[in-house]
Amino acid sequence: MRLPPGIRRYADHPFWQAVTILVLAYVLIVFVIPLLPGSALVPKSVVLQYMATVLVGVLIYVSDNEGRWRRFQEPIRAMLIERRLKLVRAGVLVAVTLLVGCLTLGQVRTTVSAPPNLRSIHPAPPADITFRGKTMTLTGLENPLRREPDSLAADLALGKRVYYQNCLPCHGDHLDGQGHYASGFNPLPANFQDNGTIAQLTESFVFWRIAKGGPGLPREGTPWNSAMPVWEDFLSEREIWSVILFLYDQTGWKPRTWEKSGEQGAGSGHD
Ligand code: HEC
Repeated sequence: MRLPPGIRRYADHPFWQAVTILVLAYVLIVFVIPLLPGSALVPKSVVLQYMATVLVGVLIYVSDNEGRWRRFQEPIRAMLIERRLKLVRAGVLVAVTLLVGCLTLGQVRTTVSAPPNLRSIHPAPPADITFRGKTMTLTGLENPLRREPDSLAADLALGKRVYYQNCLPCHGDHLDGQGHYASGFNPLPANFQDNGTIAQLTESFVFWRIAKGGPGLPREGTPWNSAMPVWEDFLSEREIWSVILFLYDQTGWKPRTWEKSGEQGAGSGHD
């Protein structure tokens, strides 16, 4: 293909070849690649890496022989010293200054934006769980210890002991989430005195959370690094139901009941 002489002068020139390759590479990486099926936006850091690679390649090409290297530098030198290019020089100076300014501003500016996704504090519990190999249906499940009024006092005493032996360091002496270790955790241990935790939950939900702990949280409960241990590894079923009795007795909250709460075991609060 024969190009008109005016354009050919540029097409043959190593400087303008280099500029063209860099622009094409940028367009390809930023605009074309995301259009390909199955690909996503290219992250900024990756764009930077690709562009740096292309730039190095281009520089190797233009500096490969003396003649080409000298021709490559011509327009740059002309822009820097020639009188007739005064305006271009001023323009480049302003553009570079503005660019650096904008980049710096972009990095130091504080932004106020909503967190990328809302995480569910009380995600919907599974309908069934396996507790130490035994399948338990959570839906409709009540605390079985409440059906035996005669042993309630003994169960409460057991629950109290379980609490003070296991839960105290995190959930605190006053069940307010202010245990000695509490400040070391994010998210903080639940504050049972607050009306946003067990007051809103059915006992079966609380059982599930105690039995499965932080690792048992479903996808909606993440990303967060809950320190809540998996208590089924350490406590028996009766001990867990007892500590639940203790939590409600001590705080004075009434567990949410299945008649009122319908299908789901928990309200799904969002942080
Ligand atoms: C190592 C610290 C730690 C210990 C020990 C601990 N917890 Fe937790 N617990 C947490 C943290 C942190 C959370 C909040 C994050 C979450 O919900 O997983 C939590 C959450 C909970 C919740 C969920 C409350 C809600 O509103 O969803 C219950 C119930 C609970 N703990 C009960 C207990 C009981 C009962 C014990 C003792 C047998 C115990 N925890 C021991 C750290 C602990």
